[in-house]
Amino acid sequence: MKKGKLIYEGKAKRVYETEDKDLFIQEFKDDATAFDATKRGTIRDKGIINNKISKILFDLLESKGIETHFVEQLDDRQMLIKRVEIIPLEVTMRNTVAGGMARLLNLKEGLVLSEPVLEYHYKDDSLHDPLINDYHALALGMATGEELEFIKKQSFKINDILKSFFEHKNLILVDFKLEFGRHKGKILLADEISPDTCRLWDKETQKKLDKDRFRRDLGGVEDAYQEVLKRMTA
Ligand code: TMP
Ligand code: ASP
Repeated sequence: MKKGKLIYEGKAKRVYETEDKDLFIQEFKDDATAFDATKRGTIRDKGIINNKISKILFDLLESKGIETHFVEQLDDRQMLIKRVEIIPLEVTMRNTVAGGMARLLNLKEGLVLSEPVLEYHYKDDSLHDPLINDYHALALGMATGEELEFIKKQSFKINDILKSFFEHKNLILVDFKLEFGRHKGKILLADEISPDTCRLWDKETQKKLDKDRFRRDLGGVEDAYQEVLKRMTA
């Protein structure tokens, strides 16, 4: 598939047109940012690892009936995806308290939630992706009621699938972020699923094996990403 015009460049990815108007190429970069890009760096081979990890997880989800934008892996850093119109919501699913939820409610990181928590954040860096609810999303036309119901249902299903997959790899899926997009009248899971967008802790030691190592200057960032991929493919 020939790469066409660059149509979007984000903090960790580039998206290109292809000769097929319904297909895009998503390219993963090594660049890492945190705190609305006020902290910047690179994580060696992150793009290669996140491309592989996302491919494996999209395949897994598709095999369980979740439709995604993933078509096929093209090379080390690139995947072919279906063209979607991204819904401007970051859907966060939480199983264990960490990060934003610990701060918001002054809770200790590591508290296991009695049931999963779904949050919507409005996707706007200049506003720091504020926490909103479904009434905001509906009233401001971000998504229809039917779309929100579907997104919610899919997000809980995805959480069940991923949680149990990672558990078998001795990893705790603490929380993660999803994005959805519209494609030919359907809502597809889009973006990526990787240690950039998930918190993953070792089951025995609770060691963080995700982007928090970069955000919090914990060291061993590259090794953590490699370790997650190694366990996933073991
Ligand atoms: P939070 O606790 O900072 O709200 O993050 C929740 C989850 O979402 C965590 O797994 C990391 C992921 N995330 C992103 O993918 N992008 C972001 O911009 C942020 C803030 C979090
Ligand atoms: N990638 C996001 C940013 O640069 C935040 C994060 O993942 O922590 O703002």
